[in-house]
Amino acid sequence: MEINAQSRTLSRLHLHSQQVILDNQQPGGGYLACPVMPDYQFSWFRDGAFIAYALALDGLHNMVPHRVGMSGQWDSALKFHQWSARIINERAAALERTIQRAALDQPLVLTDTLNARYNDEGTVGPSDWPEFQLDGPGLWVWSLAKYVEVARIHPLPVAWMNAIDIVVRYLAAVWQTPCYDCWEERGDAIHISTLAAIYAGLGAAARLVPSLEVEPTRAAIRAYILQHGLTPDGELAKSVGLDLVDANLLMAALPEDGLLTADDPLMRRTVARIERDLLAEGYGVHRHVEDTYYGGGPWVLLGLWLAWYKTQVGDRATARKLVAWAEAHADAEGNLPEQINDVMFDPTRYEGWVKLRGEIANPLLWTHAEYLIVQYALRTATS
Ligand code: BGC
Repeated sequence: MEINAQSRTLSRLHLHSQQVILDNQQPGGGYLACPVMPDYQFSWFRDGAFIAYALALDGLHNMVPHRVGMSGQWDSALKFHQWSARIINERAAALERTIQRAALDQPLVLTDTLNARYNDEGTVGPSDWPEFQLDGPGLWVWSLAKYVEVARIHPLPVAWMNAIDIVVRYLAAVWQTPCYDCWEERGDAIHISTLAAIYAGLGAAARLVPSLEVEPTRAAIRAYILQHGLTPDGELAKSVGLDLVDANLLMAALPEDGLLTADDPLMRRTVARIERDLLAEGYGVHRHVEDTYYGGGPWVLLGLWLAWYKTQVGDRATARKLVAWAEAHADAEGNLPEQINDVMFDPTRYEGWVKLRGEIANPLLWTHAEYLIVQYALRTATS
C-alpha cells in the first residue's frame, strides 16, 4: 500500500513506520517480525498484538486512505485479528485437551499448546524453537479489545468470541506452568511479565465478552505475584525467585487492563530499578543484566516502551529524550532495529549471533509499532 501525502505534518519516520508495517503484512494477515532476518519470517502473537495496537491508535488520527469507511491501519489490524482468531480456533481441540489435562492435574503436552509464532498459512516453524510462551495469547486479546473499541465493532464476530473464550480457559488452566518469557528465554521459570500479560488479556476478554468469568483467575494471579513475584527490595521481579528486574516488566502497566497503574508505587519502584540497572548511557534500554543476545545491547523498542510509560506518568520531557535516542538510531532509510550494538553488556557474544542469524533484525516491525504508540501517547498525554 502506498502511503502518500495524506499527512504532510507527520514526520518521515512516522510515515516510514506505517509503511514498513503495512508492507510486511502477509496475505493471510500475519506480520513478519522482520522482513530480512530468516528466523523472523513468522508472525508472533506478541509482536502482532503490539503492532495491531499501534495501528488501532494511529488510525484514529492519521488515517492512511485505503478504502471507503476504513483506514489502512484499521484494515490491517482487522486482518491480523482475523488471522489470530483463525489460528487459535484451528487449534481448539488441542487446547481443550490441555485444559482437560490441567483440570485432572496431568502434565502438559507441548504439542497441545499454542506456539508463539506461526507462518502466515498457519503452519509451524522448526521444532527447536522455544514456542511455549503464554504472554502472546493474553496480549492478543488485550490488543483486540483496543481495536474493537476504536473501530466500534459490535456485535463481535462469532469466530472472535470463540477464540477469546478458548484463550481465556486455556490461560486460566495453565498460567502457573513455567514457560519461556517474551524474550524466549528461561523456559523453566514463571515470569512476572508473562503473568502481567495474561492478567491484562483476561481483563480485556471480560470487557469484550462480559459473560466470561475471569475475575477468580485475575485475583489469583495478582495474589500470586504479590506473594512470589517481588524482589527483596519490593520491586516486581523478572521471574519468581530472582532478585533481578527485566525491562519487560513494563508489561505490568499496560493501559486499560494492566496489573498496576503506571503510578502505582510498586510500578514506580520497579521502573526506578529498570532505570538504574538497564538504562544505557544516552537512553537505550537493555533487556536484563544477563543478556548476551547480540552482545546484550540496548533495545530500541524498549527505549520507546519506556518513553510510552513516561507519558503515562506525565513525564513528557524524559519521554521525548528517549524518543530522540530511538530516532537517532534509525538507518538512512528510516528503519528502526531491534537493538543496537554501540554499548553491549558482553561484546564477546556479538559475532557468534551474527554468524548464526545474520545482522541484528532491522527493521523490526514491533519497534516501529512502539514508535507509533509513543507518537500517539505524546499527542494525547494530558500533562
Ligand atoms: C525476541 C522476541 C520477539 C521475536 C520476534 C525475539 O528475538 O526475543 O521478543 O518476539 O524476536 O521479534
